[in-house]
Amino acid sequence: MKVTVVGAGNVGATCADVLAYREIANEVVLVDIKEGIAEGKALDIWQKAPINLYDTRTTGSTNDYGKTAGSDVVVITSGLPRKPGMSRDDLIETNAGIVKSVTENVIKHSPEAIIIIVSNPLDVMTYQAHITSNLPRTRVFGMAGILDTARYRAFLAEALDVSPKDIQALLMGGHGDTMVPLPRYTTVAGIPVTEMIDKEKLDAIIERTKFGGGELVKLMGTSAWYAPGSAAAQMVEAIAKDQKRVFPVCAKLEGEYGIDDCYLGVPVVLGKNGIERFIEVELNEEENALLQTSRQHVREVMEVLDRINSK
Ligand code: NAI
Ligand code: 2OP
Repeated sequence: MKVTVVGAGNVGATCADVLAYREIANEVVLVDIKEGIAEGKALDIWQKAPINLYDTRTTGSTNDYGKTAGSDVVVITSGLPRKPGMSRDDLIETNAGIVKSVTENVIKHSPEAIIIIVSNPLDVMTYQAHITSNLPRTRVFGMAGILDTARYRAFLAEALDVSPKDIQALLMGGHGDTMVPLPRYTTVAGIPVTEMIDKEKLDAIIERTKFGGGELVKLMGTSAWYAPGSAAAQMVEAIAKDQKRVFPVCAKLEGEYGIDDCYLGVPVVLGKNGIERFIEVELNEEENALLQTSRQHVREVMEVLDRINSK
């Protein structure tokens, strides 16, 4: 399995590191536009192999996509991260240009690859990669739901003083403040979470989750990378090992949930072919209304992108 990670910044380098030390891929190529950064970080990861005992070959390249040829999976993390006071949507024009040119290069050298987008604004950058690559929706999709769900699960584990391993949860919608955590589909080792926490505390956790990315931007002056990089690597692992994992993934909806014009996070089965199946869970009126609000927000940003692309 050959995996390329484009963008050797915080998220991309973390993702490459997880792919290497967990031996998810046997070959990882890191690419960046900044001279030497991808080569340097890849070399550093390779020099960690004798210490952490893995044999994944990790190499880097400054914008030479020839070295990425024949990749099975490509993770795109290139683009600007948020600074304090910025929303993910503020990044749209710059990151759309980056995602477009990177996707063109990726497709030229790895026409069979599955593409995972991480760059923000996530749902709309996934749309950009889809338009550019013209790949089926099962082979171009975005990472956000695993991260947002992980934040929700981590907050719950802390509040309930239980292991995060035992929290199972589902979260849908766009990667932004309109995301839709679903307490009805949240359990602690199979026990409905609502039996273990009062509504006020649960509501506070849901609110904290929605602004979980912003909380970290405020603390660090840039956005998060350990959890995002690991989340992207977990998606690669599901594909590499044909695990049929069920994850919330940003994908193009074609009628699912009554939506056919939008990229949104929904549960899917991930395996060797990418998205192998869309799962349609039943939503009550309130949950569906929240999902539609999220759809509305993402649609508006998709239209901004359409206007940029038609200039
Ligand atoms: P970073 O600034 O640390 O790294 C970005 C890298 O992309 C830089 O090294 C830069 O040189 C490179 N780059 C820029 N243009 C390029 C091009 N044309 N070709 C190749 N490389 C290029 O940023 P970080 O923290 O790694 O974040 C990356 C992106 O991921 C941001 O857009 C951020 O908002 C997004 N993100 C998304 C998350 C999600 O849940 N989907 C979570 C965290 C971050
Ligand atoms: C995050 O949620 C900013 O999308 C990035 O951490």
